[in-house]
Amino acid sequence: MTEIKRKKLFNEAGDRDWQQRRLLNGNTTNMLEFNNVAYEWAEKLYMKMSRFFWVPEECPMLDDKKQFLLLTEGEQTAYKKILSFLIFLDSIQVANLGYIANYLHAPEIDACLKTQAFFETIHSQSYDYILTSVVDAVTRDQVYNEWRTDQRLLERNRFITNLYEDFIADPSQKNLLRSLMANFLLEGIYFYAGFAFFYALGRQNKMGGTVSVIRLIQRDELLHLALFTNIFRELRKEEPHLFTPELTEELVGMAKTAVEHEIAWGQYVIQNQIIGLSDEIIARYIKYLGNIRCAAIGLPKPYPEITEHPMKWVDEFANMNDVKTDFFERRVGNYQKAGGKLNFDKLRNRPIGEWGSPL
Ligand SMILES: [Fe+2]
Ligand SMILES: [Fe+2]
Repeated sequence: MTEIKRKKLFNEAGDRDWQQRRLLNGNTTNMLEFNNVAYEWAEKLYMKMSRFFWVPEECPMLDDKKQFLLLTEGEQTAYKKILSFLIFLDSIQVANLGYIANYLHAPEIDACLKTQAFFETIHSQSYDYILTSVVDAVTRDQVYNEWRTDQRLLERNRFITNLYEDFIADPSQKNLLRSLMANFLLEGIYFYAGFAFFYALGRQNKMGGTVSVIRLIQRDELLHLALFTNIFRELRKEEPHLFTPELTEELVGMAKTAVEHEIAWGQYVIQNQIIGLSDEIIARYIKYLGNIRCAAIGLPKPYPEITEHPMKWVDEFANMNDVKTDFFERRVGNYQKAGGKLNFDKLRNRPIGEWGSPL
């Protein structure tokens, strides 16, 4: 398979001209110049991410500590297992994003990926904050170690890791696209049965502190999804020859596998025990997400029979204040490239709902 060139840390023979910039095998100097960007959406996304800085201590957890003891056994088990998986997801994102950044030759996209990694670290910090606030030290330890005893969780963690490791071991064009797809699916599918569980508790006025933290996490995840969506769209424009019918089939296959894994996991941890989250609803919801994720990056919908969002109430939790506009309806080609100096005042004054929810 065709190798791709790793970006130089400092490329003194590089080209400063943004019009010459390209994602694969480019020739950037690797200097990050915010007034000289090729991918204007990346600069805006970086600014949006930065403005969303938060810390978990903003969410009081005292009531959660008391309420956790009043949850049913099934709810407590799901709460802990879901946190175990979320802990893995955010940790592996922190560890992996730099590898992808090394092969995308645009400093403004590098800025987004590194900022994403920082926010994934905040998410990891949040899980620790939740556990420290809600359960005792022994239980917290068990949650961190859950994959050692739960074979299903271990298999999920292994599956996700292996896809990332394949690219690290063999950084070919195909493996990069697979790794980008794996990231896209992680950000857009793998969190969602877990998020729905917490929102189902929230609907019953339970565990409000945890729900607040999860909403803040999801707000960030939507921006990460926007980042990978746009990377895909740019690659489609710049490297159309890569997007063969075989690749399309493979990527849709990856999406279907991700959907199947998330459904199986959601049904396993929730066990039909949570009001509003039956096995059937979980399956329909995750398939629905699979459809809109695939459509967002120009792939056919894998489940055309699912046309309706089966749990609209989830969006009441997910669509936080200023993340509403449908960012994904906009085509990359419609973005104005920044030829001159960017007007930072204009950007600062831009309505902050510019990047929207794909839900
Ligand atoms: Fe995250
Ligand atoms: Fe993320």
